[in-house]
Amino acid sequence: MRSDAVDTAHVLVIGSGGAGVRAAIEASGYGETLLVSKTLTGKGGCTTMAEGGYNAVLREADSCEIHFEDTLKGGAFLNDRDLVRILVEEAPQRIQDLLKWGSVFDVTDCCEVAQRPFGGQRFPRTCYAGDRTGHEMMATLVDRLHNTDVRVENEVTIISLVLDESRVSGAIGLDQKGGMRVILADATVLATGGGTRIYDISTNSSSGTGDGYALGYRAGAELIDMEQIQFHPTGAVYPYDARGRLVTEAVRGEGGILKNVEGERFMKRYDPERMELSTRDVVSRAIATEILEGKGTRNGGVYLDVTHLPRSQIESRLPVMLEQFLKFGVDIRDVPMEVAPTAHHIMGGLRITMHTETTLPCLYACGEVAGGVHGANRLGGNALAETQVYGKRAGEAAGKVKERKKKVDQKRIETEEERLGTFFSGDVPPSTIVRSLQTAMWEGAGIFRTGPELEKTLGIIRHLHTLHPRAASEANLAECCILQNMLVTASLVVRAALLRKESRGAHVRRDITQNWDAEHSPYGHTFLSLAREGIESGGRA
Ligand code: FUM
Repeated sequence: MRSDAVDTAHVLVIGSGGAGVRAAIEASGYGETLLVSKTLTGKGGCTTMAEGGYNAVLREADSCEIHFEDTLKGGAFLNDRDLVRILVEEAPQRIQDLLKWGSVFDVTDCCEVAQRPFGGQRFPRTCYAGDRTGHEMMATLVDRLHNTDVRVENEVTIISLVLDESRVSGAIGLDQKGGMRVILADATVLATGGGTRIYDISTNSSSGTGDGYALGYRAGAELIDMEQIQFHPTGAVYPYDARGRLVTEAVRGEGGILKNVEGERFMKRYDPERMELSTRDVVSRAIATEILEGKGTRNGGVYLDVTHLPRSQIESRLPVMLEQFLKFGVDIRDVPMEVAPTAHHIMGGLRITMHTETTLPCLYACGEVAGGVHGANRLGGNALAETQVYGKRAGEAAGKVKERKKKVDQKRIETEEERLGTFFSGDVPPSTIVRSLQTAMWEGAGIFRTGPELEKTLGIIRHLHTLHPRAASEANLAECCILQNMLVTASLVVRAALLRKESRGAHVRRDITQNWDAEHSPYGHTFLSLAREGIESGGRA
């Protein structure tokens, strides 16, 4: 064994975004909890970058039933209804936890938590802290975490889950120097976030590489609806380095309007009722269509205009946007932004129960790595709520697992050592393979899809799998493992996209005509595991 460092914990939490930290806080009440982060806890991942807000029913005029219906309709009725019910009912309690622990959300003149409209929702139920909501939440969560006994290990990349017979009994990781770490645990929580870095243009930080999907799949867990990739309608289009960076939906929530290069407010042709606050799948397709039809700007976007809003509103409600664009030399108080769709969120993920159990005993999943909550299209603001609702549930369920004797899986360690050894004799820099993958995914598995394009993309991914990534030193081993995770995640997305022979939510198959709408689809979840793959029948999940 490359290292004799074997660590044990009652609960191992993998991932340090909103869901992981919330899970660890909860699990700490049940026994020794270890949280490992491939980045720095509270600094990496998507939650801290989340701008717009957190959906919760807080007003008399709103109701959980309306939030439930909005979420199902937004999700093209592919959502797991039990999971949605829990989300909408527990989101208000979980925001209260955050407030109690010190989060500062914007408030109304009456000192109630302020809420703004977000797409696809019939009530303005998105709570916010300016346009840096996730950052505020993470600061609070990390502060709270430091008041527990949770041990935190930063810059440890988990490369494999460990099984004890059929039960997950921990994980193997690599530290910054490439030293192997073996962690044994009674229960393991996957909270690794998303993976839209498999696309060329993405809102995700560089850590959004889909590790949890690949870890779960390779260990034998089942994943559902991996074809459902959310393209956020509004990502920055220039300068080149800023391509894909999130331009929050809050801009449209505050009254921003979309126009094509001819100055036309084109959403009236796509969703005259909801206009810019239609669901993300609809707005993204509308923007992509305008651009494809030659009505885009020179930089390849459309205009998102807030110049009609009071300057003070932009300054107080959208300070991050204002600053971000000022850095590019654009003052959004005076000139419109230019935006285009960007890969943002994976709606699919590990199949979970209401208690976040995956299909593998003692493995739990929460946050973006889990599937089922958002169906075929997530409503903006439901992800931050999901991190807290299901993070808490996962920590609790994992914490309640009975202690047992922990055994080192020597065979798994040897297999991993062999895999790592091959990287020293590899001949292709991992970054070269990553770039090819991102281009192939953007071109062949994007907003609009066809069977032949997906087949071609799968062929490219399979070819990339045969290449030999090179690690120049032990410190580069993790990069090679992460690349392999990206390839596995991408192949899951494309295989699932081939399985779903219909257009539904964010998944649009241009080569298929259908005579049903989402609510009456004959199909349910797509599913993929080492043992089986297919698509469920039945439509309404
Ligand atoms: O547009 C946004 O601020 C993103 C929010 C979300 O994805 O929930």
